[in-house]
Amino acid sequence: MVKFLDLNKQYLSIKKEIDEAISFVINDAAFVGGKYLSLFEENFSKYVGCNFCIGVANGTDALEIAIECLDLPKGSEIIVPANSWISSSESVVRLGYNVVFCDVKNDYLMDKKDLKEKISDNTSAIMPVHLYGQICEMNEIVKIANENDLKIIEDSAQAHGAVYEGKKAGTFGDVGCYSFYPGKNLGAYGDGGAIVTNNPEIAKKARMIANHGQIEKHKHLIIGRNSRLDGIQAAILNVKLKHLDSWIERRNEVAKMYINRLSNHSPIALPHVNKNSIHAFHLYVIRNNYRNELIDHLKNHEIETAIHYPKALSDLDVHKNQKNLIKNASKICEEILSLPMGEHLSQDEVIEVCNAVTNFKK
Ligand SMILES: Cc1ncc(COP(=O)(O)O)c(C=O)c1O
Repeated sequence: MVKFLDLNKQYLSIKKEIDEAISFVINDAAFVGGKYLSLFEENFSKYVGCNFCIGVANGTDALEIAIECLDLPKGSEIIVPANSWISSSESVVRLGYNVVFCDVKNDYLMDKKDLKEKISDNTSAIMPVHLYGQICEMNEIVKIANENDLKIIEDSAQAHGAVYEGKKAGTFGDVGCYSFYPGKNLGAYGDGGAIVTNNPEIAKKARMIANHGQIEKHKHLIIGRNSRLDGIQAAILNVKLKHLDSWIERRNEVAKMYINRLSNHSPIALPHVNKNSIHAFHLYVIRNNYRNELIDHLKNHEIETAIHYPKALSDLDVHKNQKNLIKNASKICEEILSLPMGEHLSQDEVIEVCNAVTNFKK
């Protein structure tokens, strides 16, 4: 069996460090707030290369709180790529804004041409999603945002460790949002998320919103909520952060093996890696016209796969009142397939996947 993801294997490789870190939190009873959280926030902001990091309960909350911090005009529009996880559009709608979908290119990322066409007098912000571990063309998107006086919220939930023109995900716009869902490149042992920014006002407001609107204990200045990254998750993330770059290196080696063995196999389209970009390969997403048959074929060879995502956001029932014409994302979602990817894979397993893919006849 070639597993899609193997979190138990990862845990066993760092068991001593993790068990010790958890026991420290319990001994210090630093369950909510406290030194392990502060240390992670400091370490992660250094890793990302920004001034502030605020731990929150999950990546969806990070997006909601980040949007709230921007004080965008009521009822205005936020442009979101149609190929993403529901949190990207859900957060916009939950905050009372209108989501406008923008198409994606064959690199699966926001299409700047369509983005320009979707900007209206009512647009207030853009949410580029660095999907599958690759950063969008941020030099172009920042330029478009500046020309149109728009804010940028980067959904970096899948892009821990990704680099574009020397900078990490979440540092190009006004605010960046990360998820530490267990299966992410940097995953907690439960839910977790973070907001990163260089803007002290956004950082201050995000921290207050995430902690019941308090500026200090019992001094509630705004209506907030409870969305905190707990001490145990922070301690686990502190351990895992030390390994993140070597895990991403291994992901890139796996990607190289896929490229070497599959690039001449024409029925399969491999993911594009853009210039000036270090792909963090959270997911390795290929395309094939007979995707569902390919899934069955790989299943017969005991190879696990997944689809990220089976429908474009613009095609989901929940967004059916949206009339934006989205062509490429809808087509892509019928053809995409995520192959096993991660530091858990051995060379033999990657070869097994490649052989099974190249043996697929249709
Ligand atoms: C692109 C994207 N945005 C946002 C999220 C939300 O993160 P969470 O599951 O931590 O709420 C995810 C998580 O899967 C994601 O993949």
